[in-house]
Amino acid sequence: MTADTQGFGPPVVEAVDVHHHYGEGPQRVDVLFDINMQVREGELVIVTGPSGSGKTTLLTILGTMRKPSEGKLRLLGTDIVGLGGSALDELRNRIRFLFQKRNLLSSLTALQNVIAGVSTTPLADPDWDELRARHLLKMLGLGDKAAAWPDELSGGQQQRVAIARTMIGLPDLIIADEPTSALDRVSGRLVVDQLKDLALRAKCAVVLSTHDERIFDVASRRLHIEDGRCFEVPIHYH
Ligand SMILES: Nc1ncnc2c1ncn2[C@@H]1O[C@H](COP(=O)(O)OP(=O)(O)OP(=O)(O)O)[C@@H](O)[C@H]1O
Ligand SMILES: [Mg+2]
Repeated sequence: MTADTQGFGPPVVEAVDVHHHYGEGPQRVDVLFDINMQVREGELVIVTGPSGSGKTTLLTILGTMRKPSEGKLRLLGTDIVGLGGSALDELRNRIRFLFQKRNLLSSLTALQNVIAGVSTTPLADPDWDELRARHLLKMLGLGDKAAAWPDELSGGQQQRVAIARTMIGLPDLIIADEPTSALDRVSGRLVVDQLKDLALRAKCAVVLSTHDERIFDVASRRLHIEDGRCFEVPIHYH
């Protein structure tokens, strides 16, 4: 038995019979059908599928940014359909979402952008946050870019800063939409290895979408979407 097949923790994400369409009437486009999936604590699951197959739609539903048209979604043991107010805010605080399009704050340096990913708590410790942010930047190959402004960074470097920002708050769930799309093989590998390490050590669940076959082997499972339906496919380890 490898580390990947050992028992993981309780489910962090559970989608039951999720269906999603955009638009209404003649404009209606059905994008996802009968999605049933689970992701457990400590697991890194990849979502693959052709362009337009519904990966971003599924990820935004799992990240509570979009309400599914039908079906049930449980996150961290809580039924989220119908949940609102402070209960939903509290849940969202434990989730980090990395968008397909980069979104660093241009008025903050790389280091400050990473620190912005920490949730403020009464026990926040700025020195510790800065140390962790510097460590993450170093692990992602950006040790010398802490003081750089987003404009001074390449697309791939910005993407890695955004990834460090999702990781710093030790969330329970990270949802990352094509986190390695702008990265070369070496930095793509750095990113997925860090996400995997966080999943295993901090018991975080990670769901990431990708077209990048070079990183499939990092996942504990691969879900593939085709024609709006999601099914599990085996991963071939090289
Ligand atoms: N806001 C929207 N309104 C209407 N249709 C949409 C909307 N967002 C996405 N779609 C459609 O839903 C389908 C799935 O889109 P989605 O962005 O989820 O695909 P994807 O798998 O992430 O593609 P890619 O690999 O190119 O990022 C596409 O046909 C798209 O045109
Ligand atoms: Mg997409």
